[in-house]
Amino acid sequence: MREFPPLLTERLTLRRLERADAAAVRRYAGDERVAHWTARIPHPYPDGAAEAWIAETLAQMARSEGWQLGIDARGVGLVGAIGLERDEDRLSAELGYWVGVPYWGHGYATEAARHMIRFAFQATDLAQVHARVLPDNAASRRVLEAVGFTPTGPATVTLDARGYNAEALCFALERRAWRG
Ligand SMILES: CC(C)(COP(=O)(O)OP(=O)(O)OC[C@H]1O[C@@H](n2cnc3c(N)ncnc32)[C@H](O)[C@@H]1OP(=O)(O)O)[C@@H](O)C(=O)NCCC(=O)NCCS
Repeated sequence: MREFPPLLTERLTLRRLERADAAAVRRYAGDERVAHWTARIPHPYPDGAAEAWIAETLAQMARSEGWQLGIDARGVGLVGAIGLERDEDRLSAELGYWVGVPYWGHGYATEAARHMIRFAFQATDLAQVHARVLPDNAASRRVLEAVGFTPTGPATVTLDARGYNAEALCFALERRAWRG
């Protein structure tokens, strides 16, 4: 597949995931405190799930269906992941992210999200990015607000990995409202 040039922020490198990241993905995404807030991270985290997910992220990028990137803090290593997945219309995409518990509160998610949005609006044809957040997920709501998302209303979401539906809050950011 084509190379994906890493995206550099002040403290982070957003880059393609590699098979060698599987141990860190298993350790951090496998933590119930992370999985609980997500729709797709299973818990308990099955053997092989990290390797399968990393392979899927690369296949998805090769098909231009999305960009799932590792969040690599310089001098630290992989601390989380962030991704954009195109909707069927291909002009909008859903933003998702997680950060390993030991690295919460360092501003990494906000820094990564800000740059992912810059990438979306400067390097792709996406016209809108949206996200869905469980109402009690205050940290994630703060991340979205900090990078300019605004609420668009509630929606019922299927939490595939949880096995139930939940009411989520939807947020969106339009290209024309993005302030750079
Ligand atoms: C949401 C998540 C990615 C945030 O990662 P992070 O790197 O700790 O986020 P940041 O350090 O950039 O902090 C974001 C904001 O949330 C605030 N915050 C952090 N933890 C919080 C908490 N438990 N309650 C309220 N606010 C909190 C921070 O103070 C910061 O706000 P500020 O900029 O006003 O100070 C991380 O908590 C996580 O991985 N959660 C589980 C997975 C998840 O929720 N993914 C998103 C699904 S929609």
